[in-house]
Amino acid sequence: MCGIVGYVGVRDAVPIILDGLQRLEYRGYDSVGVALYADNVIQVRRQAGKLANLRQCVEAEPVSGTIGIGHTRWATHGAPVERNAHPHLSMNGEFVVVHNGIVENYLELREELSAEGVIFKSDTDTEVIVQLIEEFASNGAHGDVAEATRLAVQQLRGAHAIVVMSRRQPDRLVAVRIGNAGGIAVGTGEHEHFIASDIPAILDYTHHMLFLESRQMAIVKRDSYEIQTLGGQSVHALPQSIPYDPISAVKGEFKHFMQKEIFDQARSITDTIGGRVDFENSQVVLPSLNLTAERAQQIERVVTVACGTSYYSGLIGKFFIEQLARLNVEVDYGSEYRYRDPILDETTAVLAITQSGETVDTLAAMEEARDKGALVWSIVNAVGSQAMRIADGYISMNAGPEIGVASTKAFTTSVVDQYLLALYLGQLRGKLAPDAIRIHAQALARLPDLVGRTLELEGAIRELAHQVYSYTNFLYLGRGINYPIALEGALKLKEISYIHAEGYPAGEMKHGPIALIDEQMPVVAIALKDKVYDKMLSQIEQAKARDAIVIALATEGDTVIQTKADHVLYLPETSPLLAPVLSVVALQLLAYDVAVRRGADVDQPRNLAKSVTVE
Ligand code: F6R
Repeated sequence: MCGIVGYVGVRDAVPIILDGLQRLEYRGYDSVGVALYADNVIQVRRQAGKLANLRQCVEAEPVSGTIGIGHTRWATHGAPVERNAHPHLSMNGEFVVVHNGIVENYLELREELSAEGVIFKSDTDTEVIVQLIEEFASNGAHGDVAEATRLAVQQLRGAHAIVVMSRRQPDRLVAVRIGNAGGIAVGTGEHEHFIASDIPAILDYTHHMLFLESRQMAIVKRDSYEIQTLGGQSVHALPQSIPYDPISAVKGEFKHFMQKEIFDQARSITDTIGGRVDFENSQVVLPSLNLTAERAQQIERVVTVACGTSYYSGLIGKFFIEQLARLNVEVDYGSEYRYRDPILDETTAVLAITQSGETVDTLAAMEEARDKGALVWSIVNAVGSQAMRIADGYISMNAGPEIGVASTKAFTTSVVDQYLLALYLGQLRGKLAPDAIRIHAQALARLPDLVGRTLELEGAIRELAHQVYSYTNFLYLGRGINYPIALEGALKLKEISYIHAEGYPAGEMKHGPIALIDEQMPVVAIALKDKVYDKMLSQIEQAKARDAIVIALATEGDTVIQTKADHVLYLPETSPLLAPVLSVVALQLLAYDVAVRRGADVDQPRNLAKSVTVE
């Protein structure tokens, strides 16, 4: 949830850390801080609120040094106030720590340390880590920061990403990863090294990075780094080259990252399809899935696990995989799945969908699947993330960094990835002839252009948003493959505009929700020309009969719908399976424009974080 940045080298660490935090601020942002080693002491500057507050504080009380760590926090234990912001100093000021994760046994540890005379200054669980390190440094570790950290983290329950700096050994940073509380990337440069919880933080400085696995530690100095297991064994790890272009993480002409990312989708979908369809031979090629035809034929069902927007994407993928590969698909929330003692074996493929690749619930579901012998796949955006590494095979979204907290281009690219997966499974399992694949692939090839045409609705949607932004409740209705889009449309609206919105399968209206409808209720109905079109028209009529304001998403050329709905947004025609991609683009724009009109903080909505690494 939080962001970590560290630097050791020859330059002033402060601007590097602050710029890195700026790029990570989207992950969590209720307080922020930085610690530097300078003049034989560790100096800490922290502030509640956003990074701008810390910048002001550093200007007022300057600090500099060639080694330091920084953190943006999303509160789990203790209010978002200055004393709870990271970095946390040990009682004697010898060590300082930044941390992502939750120390599950912190109360117990805090009691023990307090009984030994340790005085705590914050309400956080993190502070026990630094106090333990100081304690072990004097008892057993002989002042060595890596050894003291190793001993301290063995006392902790839970998942953690930790970076430690020491006044006694000010030439090094020590980073530890345990479980899935977020990643630790070590970036290499000339006479300098970087540490970050997330790649974009340091991408301006280096494209060469290695990633800690769980229960590994990095000892990072100006001219060297060493990776060890927590047992103390050396690990041979070489940096990988990370291809992201940092330019694509800059807002450019757009007012918000979310807006930029919505408009990026014609490009990102093109990148997702790129190189994966052999149009000449009517074949799909997904080498990173590591799947043979023989193994594909052994699969009897697919279980998709994901959270939030990625879960809704999985609900759409179910239609693809069932229809194109003739495999049963179950879709479940990562947070629910692992507590059900699910029935899994080698005939099940578990597909995890996660933009960040670090969502703790989704990762836990993947681990459960692996322990039970299932085949584990992931669809991920963050290159090098845990979900990519622990899967037997993966498909990358190729969406580029998504900075806006509300997911947009990661949603559509993950839908496209599942379409490719379904075609690939259909092909390997002998369920789709080359001719059928050619027809589906051609529809896919036209999709980026149709997304571009859908984006031309921008002006009409802004106008519509001006008319409806002040309502306090919205209902989104869809059926079949567009029902998940009703859910996703409602989620987008609620998370960025704070308007209460619900998505419903339209056929369920009469079983309860219709009671909500009156003239104060805008109803967004996805009524495309598909096999449930007539049924959607009748739902619209029922809503209108109760004075709802109906906003319909319709297929170009449909004149009937104009007579039924108050507002119509026309989408280009495409295959029914791919229509959700166009519908969602229109609903993303609607949510965006409503939120902007209400003056909401679109890119960093309250209470949310980009990467959810706590349960
Ligand atoms: C909503 C949103 C979240 C994420 C969810 C899972 O716009 O972004 O609902 O989809 O937190 O995140 P990932 O895909 O990183 O696992």
